[in-house]
Amino acid sequence: MKKTSQHGQWSSRMVFILAATGSAVGLGNIWKFPYIAGENGGGAFVLTYLLCILAIGLPIMMAEIMLGRRGRQSPINTMRVLAVESNASALWSWLGWLGVVAGFLILSYYSVIAGWAMAYVVRVASGVFDGATADGVSHIFGEFIADPEKLLAWHSLFMIITMLVVARGVKGLERAAKFLMPALILILILLVGYSMNQGAFQQGVSFLFSADFSKINAAGVLTAMGHAFFTLSLGMGAIMVYGSYLPSRVSIGSTTVIIALADTAVALLAGLAIFPIVFANGLTPASGPGLIFQTLPIAFGHMAYGAFFGTLFFLLLVFAAWSSSISLIEPAVAWLVENRKMSRMRACIWAGLLTWLIGIGTVLSFNLAADLTVFGKTFFDLMDYLTANIMLPLGGLCIALFAGWVMAAETSAKELSLPNDHIYKAWRFIVRYVSPVAVLLVFLNVIGLI
Ligand code: TRP
Repeated sequence: MKKTSQHGQWSSRMVFILAATGSAVGLGNIWKFPYIAGENGGGAFVLTYLLCILAIGLPIMMAEIMLGRRGRQSPINTMRVLAVESNASALWSWLGWLGVVAGFLILSYYSVIAGWAMAYVVRVASGVFDGATADGVSHIFGEFIADPEKLLAWHSLFMIITMLVVARGVKGLERAAKFLMPALILILILLVGYSMNQGAFQQGVSFLFSADFSKINAAGVLTAMGHAFFTLSLGMGAIMVYGSYLPSRVSIGSTTVIIALADTAVALLAGLAIFPIVFANGLTPASGPGLIFQTLPIAFGHMAYGAFFGTLFFLLLVFAAWSSSISLIEPAVAWLVENRKMSRMRACIWAGLLTWLIGIGTVLSFNLAADLTVFGKTFFDLMDYLTANIMLPLGGLCIALFAGWVMAAETSAKELSLPNDHIYKAWRFIVRYVSPVAVLLVFLNVIGLI
């Protein structure tokens, strides 16, 4: 097996942790988690999500990083060489393709939402929210997403800055990740502090943490599981390709735990900041993808130095989205460089253009094409459902099966080099039985078979 990837290598364990946390922490934590928790009734959903992180996310994340480091290539080629090494079918490389497609589709809408965050940097800085009411804030949001040209312009800008970093390779990814995470966590804590004093903190906390299982149905459980994959960047080769740049001596187990903890902490902090504001202002938790854009500006409009902190917050959100988006396209770019012998720059232009085009569907789904639905879902809803609820769990399931059943035990034991044999045995049991069965049960439950 190769010792290093042709695309380069992270310069230290810390840099890998930052880059992988940068990939994990993004819109999923701050924009998506609160609104899907709101739509699915809160506590029971949050608990299901946390369980999925523990029983499915953590072990599969270790598996995915491990496969990447063993293969040292783009996910498509990694899966092919690992299958050959294990005397299995080369068809496993399809897992890499599934991931590449999922990456394009996710980034296509991710970029549109990141564009909203960019637009809000400017809006908050301009002071339009100073003293604003909940109605006023909702009105501003409604007008904004009704304007396809604005959404398209911000989507285009975000795609350009994403591809600029990806074009620079591992070094570019590294530099982007360094200061953002600590700054983001600090400002979230500040927001939670503000929320504590809005009179509805208790209500927000109990919405998030007191689990009433009558409020969650099969579809909600699938959303929670899908989100566990989404938020940890699992199931499509993003963390696999990051693993392929990981030096051989770094321990995969402990780094995975750190990344998952940081990711979960950011999501919960975001929830704690947002729901008290929702209740204090009589808003509804189930208001969908606009939730943070309709709640946080109220806080910024009323707190001391709100315009300053608000600008900083949306700026950091853009950075968090940026450090996530680069990992969504990296598997495709790495493959183009390996197999099509393209320069990184050319590969970025093609991959970026394709993603940008698909993203136009999402731009229009919030305005001109809002009524164009399939199964009651707009283009954006469809992309989100197809990727987060189907493709990622399916990819994760295949990763678990490959790592647990196809790859030789000595190989995975050596590559993971966990602190002791008990931990290894537990991991192997989970990826062989627990995670695959859990994913299958949730799938079967949703299609109504159990
Ligand atoms: N995890 C990121 C977030 O929560 C999004 C993301 C980045 C992602 N890379 C991914 C999701 C790969 C799925 C797969 O915002």
